[in-house]
Amino acid sequence: MSKKISISRSGRFAREVSADVAQFTESISFDWRLWKHDIQGSIAHATMLQKIGVLKQNELSVIIKGLNQIAKEIAAGKFVWKPELEDVHMNIEAELTKRVPAGAKLHTARSRNDQVALDVRMWLRDEITLLLGEIASLQRALVSLGEKNSDVLIPGYTHLQRAQPVYLAHHLLAYVEMLERDCERLWDCHSRVNVCPLGSGAIAGSTLPLKRELVAKLLNFVDADGKVQLTQNSMDAVSDRDFAVEFCAAGALLAVHLSRLAEDVILWAGAEFNFIKIADAYTTGSSLMPQKKNPDIAELTRGKTGRVFGNLMSLLTLLKGLPMTYNRDLQEDKERLFDTADTVRASTRIFSAMLRNVKINRAACAAAASDPALLATDLADYLVKKGMPFRQAHHVVGAVVALAEKTGKPLNQLTLAELQGVNPTFGRDALGVFNLKTAMAKRNLTGAPGTKEVAKQLARWHFLLSHELENVEKMRQQVKSIVKGYKAVQKETRLL
Ligand code: ARG
Repeated sequence: MSKKISISRSGRFAREVSADVAQFTESISFDWRLWKHDIQGSIAHATMLQKIGVLKQNELSVIIKGLNQIAKEIAAGKFVWKPELEDVHMNIEAELTKRVPAGAKLHTARSRNDQVALDVRMWLRDEITLLLGEIASLQRALVSLGEKNSDVLIPGYTHLQRAQPVYLAHHLLAYVEMLERDCERLWDCHSRVNVCPLGSGAIAGSTLPLKRELVAKLLNFVDADGKVQLTQNSMDAVSDRDFAVEFCAAGALLAVHLSRLAEDVILWAGAEFNFIKIADAYTTGSSLMPQKKNPDIAELTRGKTGRVFGNLMSLLTLLKGLPMTYNRDLQEDKERLFDTADTVRASTRIFSAMLRNVKINRAACAAAASDPALLATDLADYLVKKGMPFRQAHHVVGAVVALAEKTGKPLNQLTLAELQGVNPTFGRDALGVFNLKTAMAKRNLTGAPGTKEVAKQLARWHFLLSHELENVEKMRQQVKSIVKGYKAVQKETRLL
């Protein structure tokens, strides 16, 4: 074999690919960010190869030393990636073999097909952990804003029309619930990401007596009970990207939730609502209109939803109609997956920072919430309590609203005589319905925006999230090396 031929090309090739083919097929320009996991995977694989006698102890030592040295250089931004070596796997292996001849044994019983599946799974596993931390932090920001303004009432809306009064905290906690479901979906997805495909080879495993369990254990592919998680079909293992689709789907729904929150923030920050003021550091100005203060963070969060949806569509389309097993098409999964992970994590992170720097305009909220029409349903409930069927009560209160409109009076300024003119069931206590404080005290069903119930829900989330943060912190400690590695990656991203 000619020395000039790259290591992915066997003796059957007489020449290297042309430059434009190399440029078309390379993935190093984006898959370099799998380097840390690629090296971890190689160290585990080499350790196993030594246990089964393929590598001698001293060969294993020099391979691990060589890989660690390469890792250091990559982290320091000193490693030179070569596009002609196609991808991160070949770049690292070729450099190792150049430095350490025993490196030529590293790829024994391994294919880039199971290697890339392993690397992406390991990368995504860490990414999910980091994203869960950011979501918990956003939930905390929402709860804290609700706690600081626990007495603030606003109108709740349906069809963007004022409907019934709610505590601001109740509105914010609706997003906490949505985000919690996102966390559950991500955890569920994590359980399918966290399965070790190494040992599947190119398609059909290996004739060598590999110890798959050992590799999986070394790479922490275990469930909550410590049970090792291995893929059970070599053909599925090298061609499966369901876990990436699942992540992008969970990410798309998270993006929907962030986008809806963004829309509320944008509305609330506008002069028409004027419920909130976003700190200067989290708003931008207009290049022309000097008075403008724009909620760009929220707008971009809403706007980025488009690419997150697009990534999911791309992955689904990529997989549809692929024959078994690995096809090079699968190389196209990475940029879409990376983009979803980067986008939702960055949006979640910046959004919680922004929310921590939002002030509630209590006077504007109070003015909006004091609209007596918000309690029209309560007036119907009053009649129901007097024995009137709800359908009739609904009709009667509709007539009361029409009378108020006709006389140009707010609903709560009508006299008892006027009310009784519409229907004699109204008693002296009817106008008491419009006391907002008592009205809120009455809404104490589980999940309703009543005074006691909202306080209970705030306390529940406060408790859950302080534990959640502790758990995430514990997880972060466990993956400290990964976080460190990620910081290095971020540093490199800036360099690129
Ligand atoms: N860069 C490739 C990918 O991302 C790695 C696997 C290549 N395998 C192959 N047989 N060409 O999918």
